[in-house]
Amino acid sequence: TSIPLLVFAGSTRAQSWNRRLAGAVTQMATAEGAQVTRLELADFDVPLYNADLEAKGTPRDVVRLKEIFHAHPAWIICSPEYNGSYTALLKNTIDWVSSPIKGDPNWSSGTKPFEGKVVGLLATSPGALGGVRSLSHLNPLLLNLQCWVAPRQYAMPRAGEAFDPDGALATEAHRNAVHGVIQQVLWATQRFQD
Ligand code: FNR
Repeated sequence: TSIPLLVFAGSTRAQSWNRRLAGAVTQMATAEGAQVTRLELADFDVPLYNADLEAKGTPRDVVRLKEIFHAHPAWIICSPEYNGSYTALLKNTIDWVSSPIKGDPNWSSGTKPFEGKVVGLLATSPGALGGVRSLSHLNPLLLNLQCWVAPRQYAMPRAGEAFDPDGALATEAHRNAVHGVIQQVLWATQRFQD
């Protein structure tokens, strides 16, 4: 059976390198037999989190986004690095979606709603470190949510030279590293389902 995999970037910028990386991941994971949902955070109107807003009723787009996150057993995040960490967009998204869906029959209090989600982490940036410090902050965030974070991770340096004009990864080193993350995510998700 094909694994439902959610792939998204922590950037909404039109020319985003991480959105481009998410595109390459989509191609590669689809070739591996995953059933990929390529999510664009720009398609959702999500305000900055404020518990008062949530108390008045979760905004429509947040509900849609939340359902997508909860429905996928596996995610791959392509993370930009801002000031040595991940983006406010990623944090805001996770803060909104990480609470339980009311009436979800698969969730019992005493567990966390994202317990056992398998998450693969990738980053890219124009710099020499590829945004690796964003990953060092995303790891504890996801572990706190009880996600199973794939130990294989990759921060791809010099994003400006890393893609072919068609959006594919330009070097074998990049392809192998990204492929390794995808394979480990699919492998773990399969085993969690057994
Ligand atoms: C950056 N950038 C950046 N890059 C990096 O490697 N380490 C960093 O700490 C930062 N810090 C940073 C802060 C802020 C506020 C901005 C706007 C940018 C550069 C960043 O990697 C670059 O803009 C990427 O292109 C952003 O990712 P996307 O949008 O291309 O996916």
